[in-house]
Amino acid sequence: MTIRQAYLGTVGYLRAYGVESPEFDASQLVEAVTGVSRGRMPLDGQKDIPPAQWKKLRAMIDRRAQKYPLQYLLGEWEFFGLPFSVGEGVLIPRPDTETLVETGLKLLEGVSHPVVYDLCSGSGCIAAAVASQRPDALIYAVEVSQEAFSYLTKNTRPFPGVRPVLADIFEAAPQLPSCHLILSNPPYLSDEEMNRLQTEVTYEPEIALRAGENGLAFYRSIAKAYRPNVLPQGHIAFEVGYRQSGLAEELLRENGWRHIEKKQDLNGIERVVYASA
Ligand SMILES: C[S@@+](CC[C@H](N)C(=O)[O-])C[C@H]1O[C@@H](n2cnc3c(N)ncnc32)[C@H](O)[C@@H]1O
Repeated sequence: MTIRQAYLGTVGYLRAYGVESPEFDASQLVEAVTGVSRGRMPLDGQKDIPPAQWKKLRAMIDRRAQKYPLQYLLGEWEFFGLPFSVGEGVLIPRPDTETLVETGLKLLEGVSHPVVYDLCSGSGCIAAAVASQRPDALIYAVEVSQEAFSYLTKNTRPFPGVRPVLADIFEAAPQLPSCHLILSNPPYLSDEEMNRLQTEVTYEPEIALRAGENGLAFYRSIAKAYRPNVLPQGHIAFEVGYRQSGLAEELLRENGWRHIEKKQDLNGIERVVYASA
């Protein structure tokens, strides 16, 4: 069997199992196993696929057909143009979160050697993305899950400005130095939303998703407990879930934050709420 035949077979198989983007997923899996990208297929696709590679590809296709996340099968995923190691135990970075990074970078303009917190850091994608643009920043990336923390330390290793902190954000505030900016994409799904997750998402860690009855527990706690940590002229920016921007705004206002603003993601959803100290 040629690599191209393996690719076409994979597309058909994934489509039959209702995978949303069978061509894309098949090309990613074939490239991961054989090294042949979609662009090289017309040329290198004529080569035979070695039996060991075909066996490996088959195993991956079977898992993908069961809606196991493509990103976990690949072991790496891109965010903000950077590669992140991912696997079970850590949330897969989402493109929506780039809106939070962009907001944070804007808020840091004109501040030299800023101190930043990335609370609920997961894979470290926010901390690393900010560090990639602001090598002068000192960024505390706080994460409580030991499993996620091992990805965080690996992913942020190329960025000496990032300090991974294994801690519960509900307890860490007094131990951190004052900062210019808090960024956080915390868990924000309500109990009701947890009951109707897309199958792929059920493979991601519950601790990264669930945030109590109405999904606001983390926003409430961060807005209150971390307010004293932020320097005058400093800022806070949250990623929020669908329809949470108004509630997050209220929580910020109740806790003394000012000049509250919102930013939409690429799909036109209010995704980031930010404010001044
Ligand atoms: C929605 S994920 C976000 C991960 C990453 N910031 C991102 O944008 O992809 C939330 C993260 O918060 C972590 N987390 C949950 N409860 C926490 C707590 N009490 N203290 C610190 N981190 C926590 C989870 O383990 C998970 O990695």
